[in-house]
Amino acid sequence: MKNFVSVQDVEDIDALVQKALAHKADPLKNKTLGANKRIGCLFLNPSMRTRLSTQIAAQNLGMEAIVFNVGQDGWALEFEDEAIMSGSTVEHVKDAAPVLGKYFDLLAIRTFPSLKNREDDYSELFIKQFIKYAGVPVVSLESATLHPLQSLTDIITISEELAKAPLPGGRRAKIVLTWAPHVKPLPQCVANSFSQWINAWGKADFVITHPEDYELAEQFTKGATIIYNQEEALKDADFVYVKNWSTYDDYGKIYTNNPKWMLTNKRWLLTNNAKVMHCLPVRRNVELSDEILDGPMSIVTQQAGNRVWAAQAVLSEILNAK
Ligand code: CP
Repeated sequence: MKNFVSVQDVEDIDALVQKALAHKADPLKNKTLGANKRIGCLFLNPSMRTRLSTQIAAQNLGMEAIVFNVGQDGWALEFEDEAIMSGSTVEHVKDAAPVLGKYFDLLAIRTFPSLKNREDDYSELFIKQFIKYAGVPVVSLESATLHPLQSLTDIITISEELAKAPLPGGRRAKIVLTWAPHVKPLPQCVANSFSQWINAWGKADFVITHPEDYELAEQFTKGATIIYNQEEALKDADFVYVKNWSTYDDYGKIYTNNPKWMLTNKRWLLTNNAKVMHCLPVRRNVELSDEILDGPMSIVTQQAGNRVWAAQAVLSEILNAK
């Protein structure tokens, strides 16, 4: 693996999941793989899980991790080629990224979309420019449209649950991604990425449910069944992934915020005793009810814990390829 920015960088999802689970079983089994190597974790946006799990994963591999809050402490970066930098940006990525490539053996980067211009966000300019100019492998810690470490974590967690309690007759799991209300417009990254990975994994019956007008980009959802009625979609689900996203077509907006889309016990009873997932952070009693988050069906903490093993599997793949 050279870079890790989407599912397309992964040859075999199940093999990567098994590697992650092997790291979980024995976190220090490759504790010298990253010896004398350094990873720079660049954050243009806030993070708790991604930041800490990546640092822990790097340390477990014997690698030094340095976090740099570019958005807060660094110079404002310019990403457009041929920009006339007479505005607020101070340094071009063309100049900054090669310097970072001298300091670090690997770079990991979190950016967010503007949610103002769909074409710009979906071009993934920020992460592509880092890949172009850094000269070292780049790992996405969430980009404008995708969150691949989160999605790998999600498949690790689903695989773990299915190994613990196999479905009768070896039937395929039904996985439902459901839109949830939120107070502000959020990126489509987690939903896009989850759809992309579940479709590429190809081992589940995959349903996406959302109000009309919240369609996601077809490039990621193709292969899923889309149902606008949440109750109908939830029927017999084995896993329910709850997430808000803003509109894709009329880009970056909140249309409806109907609180009926928040998953409650009453709606959960339609499922096949489904495990409930969320990438966190979650707005309690807006996106997900207390009764679900505090109930036995919630596996959100297990899921967030698995972020370490996803990151460790990816970093070790890249270190092994170097
Ligand atoms: N799920 C996730 O990416 O969490 P953080 O924003 O805290 O990193």
